[in-house]
Amino acid sequence: MTLYFASVLPGLEYVLSNEINTKLNDSEIIQINRGKVFFTTTEPFTCLSSLKLADNLFQVIDQFQIGPHKKHLSQISERISKLDLDFINDKDLYWVNASRKGKQTYSRFEIATKAMEGINKHYPNWNIGTSQNHQIEFRIDIEHHDVIFSHRLTDATFRFRNQTRRFSRASLLPTVAHAMVWLSDPKSTDIFVDPCCGSGTILSERATYPANQIVGGDISDVVTNVAKSNLDDLKVQMNVWDGRELPFTNGCVDKIVTNLPFGKQISPDEDLELFNHHIMNEICRVLKPSGKAVILSESVDQLFWEAKRLGLFCLEYYPLSLKGLNPTLFVFEKQDEQKNK
Ligand SMILES: C[S@@+](CC[C@H](N)C(=O)[O-])C[C@H]1O[C@@H](n2cnc3c(N)ncnc32)[C@H](O)[C@@H]1O
Repeated sequence: MTLYFASVLPGLEYVLSNEINTKLNDSEIIQINRGKVFFTTTEPFTCLSSLKLADNLFQVIDQFQIGPHKKHLSQISERISKLDLDFINDKDLYWVNASRKGKQTYSRFEIATKAMEGINKHYPNWNIGTSQNHQIEFRIDIEHHDVIFSHRLTDATFRFRNQTRRFSRASLLPTVAHAMVWLSDPKSTDIFVDPCCGSGTILSERATYPANQIVGGDISDVVTNVAKSNLDDLKVQMNVWDGRELPFTNGCVDKIVTNLPFGKQISPDEDLELFNHHIMNEICRVLKPSGKAVILSESVDQLFWEAKRLGLFCLEYYPLSLKGLNPTLFVFEKQDEQKNK
């Protein structure tokens, strides 16, 4: 078993744990910290890279304890100089990033320097790169007395999916969009709709799972064109529409997953409260009984009472911290009147 950790947007740790347990057969969640999930598995990296909620993946190389004063820093180089790092294939330029939490009298730069000293002692032929130019990246994270030394397995292309993707002003991170899709419990029979799709991040993430139909739209033809360029035409139907008047009959959609306009980023053409009221009516109208709506919104109180008014039962909710805002991710289920009789 190898110990890894995945970094994730704070608030989504338990959703990521669920993805890990579902996608990696023999995995075990070891610990959950803010923004990090530690887990063990014997699966190869190709399986680990199926984790779409994780921002980055790290393999833990060593864990030890350290004191808070500068005189303790030499413990880092001594310990790291004894580690066997031969498993690392690409031995070109390396770099160490460090973080610390607690009342230490040393800085994160001093921590990183000591770690690089340790590596250099054991592997004098490896070259130290720069923060911008390196092929191998190690991390050393100190929380009070606890030290974790790890090897970063993923780069930015992992969380941004690919470099050609176009984003709009209010685009979601693909990892957050994936968390929303994951919470909708994707099924191959789903009719899936994002009524305010922007650049189509949620639709792209949904398209990685089989579906009956994936449909999206936005009131802006400019962002709809951005979405079209990001999406595979064969899998996703794109529309310019008003999400308050969707072209679906009552009760025919299985899943609605959407990031409603919020903050000063993107304002709807009516007062935000009225907009939320109308779009929630429409979401509820088109959803099937027992259908799910996964909604990201900053209008937390309003969404709770709109849902209650409409008979949308809140299964789960996750307060997030996103781009300086504090939206909540809601998972609603439309009550099935027939079942409840
Ligand atoms: C927060 S953004 C969605 C961002 C999207 N999730 C992404 O990753 O790009 C909200 C979107 O709602 C759209 N919008 C505003 N009013 C709308 C309406 N009445 N009908 C449909 N879309 C609307 C905006 O144009 C904007 O693209």
